Amino acid sequence: MSAKRVHIKTYGCQMNVYDSARMADVLAPIGYQTADSPEEADLVILNTCHIREKAAEKVYSEVGRLRALKERKALDGEQMLVAIGGCVAQAQGAEMMRRAPAIDLVFGPQTYQELPTLIAKAERDLAETGRSRVVAVDLATDEKFDHLPQESAPQGSSAFLTIQEGCDKFCTFCVVPYTRGAEYSRPVGDVLAEARRLVEQGAVDITLLGQNVNAYHGDDGGSPAGLGALMRHLAAIEGLERIRYTTSHPRDVDDELIAAHRDVPEIMPFLHLPVQSGSDRILQAMNRRHTAAEYRDIVARLREARPDLALSSDFIVGFPGETDEDFEATMDLVRTVGFVMAYSFKYSPRPGTPAADHADQVPEDVKSVRLATLQAELSRQQNAFNASCLGETMPVLFERRGRHAGQIAGRSPFMQAVSVDGVDNAEAFIGRIFPVEITSILPNSLSGRIADQQTRAAAQ
Ligand code: SAH
Ligand code: SF4
Ligand code: F3S
Repeated sequence: MSAKRVHIKTYGCQMNVYDSARMADVLAPIGYQTADSPEEADLVILNTCHIREKAAEKVYSEVGRLRALKERKALDGEQMLVAIGGCVAQAQGAEMMRRAPAIDLVFGPQTYQELPTLIAKAERDLAETGRSRVVAVDLATDEKFDHLPQESAPQGSSAFLTIQEGCDKFCTFCVVPYTRGAEYSRPVGDVLAEARRLVEQGAVDITLLGQNVNAYHGDDGGSPAGLGALMRHLAAIEGLERIRYTTSHPRDVDDELIAAHRDVPEIMPFLHLPVQSGSDRILQAMNRRHTAAEYRDIVARLREARPDLALSSDFIVGFPGETDEDFEATMDLVRTVGFVMAYSFKYSPRPGTPAADHADQVPEDVKSVRLATLQAELSRQQNAFNASCLGETMPVLFERRGRHAGQIAGRSPFMQAVSVDGVDNAEAFIGRIFPVEITSILPNSLSGRIADQQTRAAAQ
């Protein structure tokens, strides 16, 4: 078997990051090693994101660069396949090849287990006709996880584990239900087996992934288990110290999940719970199926269960029909709920989604002003939270060496980046959790010193 090289470039959410690793796993048995750049590769895969227009457009500019590289290589008698996976592939299918003929293969998120066959077909077509136009965008399979090899490459001390795919919510702005298909939950036994494997390979912190992760209802010996029950099982795995999950939907926060936050110390006190808007009118138009008051109530109940809980969220400004008053309701929710981190976006109309056809689109300049106002408040809150950590001691999971000599870097329970300087034996710290006293607040991270004197002395 000849050695070939694949370069995979990942866009979009963490589920794509996870999927890209699975693609590498499924290609390894047919002789593909990974390459760091397209120049070194025989096969380039772009794992794409369709969530906003900008994300989708990035793909075409990258294909433009790859076309030039492909042509240069062809002059040297080398062949390079260009394959497009992920959500743009699913949404646009064969249309992508009409727009960018340099593409040889388009394959959607539910077809990754077929990748070796699809590549073989593309190679055959190229050899026979000089042209490949392989398209695989079947969404109707639930076999993906059964046929993908898991975890040949260790992910390190913090690992991702996809437990749920797809979405049945159909928020009126969102492409995910169309690009990822219907909701599907992996059985509890499969999730536990994969988690054990990850822990054996050094994972200490596992983030459970799903487009709608707390809608999880995996089979547990004949009856469905929710996310709360699943995390109780996971917490029993020796060596698994930290459990997180993303992305969750307010509608699917149930009592069992709240109780798990109260009872299971391994569940980190940091939760990404997107709200999108603080206006009931807009929430309804978005089909979010909850009000601002219900969101506040869910947060209050979660904080009662876990008083140190820090929240992160997603916001969309300029959804069709959003007035100044609606936007003010969002600002009010932000000011009163309080977030330690957040992602905020200008509404981007997506082809095929109901909101895209709405007559009452908000002008770009209004969106820009609202986004700047919102982001100023969100970053003020983030900075205030970081500043409040000064002098605190928090457990830090060290993940890697830092940028400077003698520096190690890791994460707090709240996902803050934390670094410690003056450590001579970094290996003794990486992959482990130590208490760190925060001594300074930097723009995007915290720095501190190992809080325990004995350990500190041993580090130097
Ligand atoms: N399942 C998650 C969201 C996944 S998409 C949830 O229900 O919250 C990630 C984020 O992208 C969304 O929370 C939303 O804030 C943003 N987003 C999705 N579609 C968008 C669009 N058309 N325009 C702007 N932002 C969008
Ligand atoms: Fe998109 Fe999330 Fe809504 Fe599903 S719940 S449609 S993924 S925003
Ligand atoms: Fe993007 Fe698809 Fe994830 S649209 S955000 S890559 S589910």
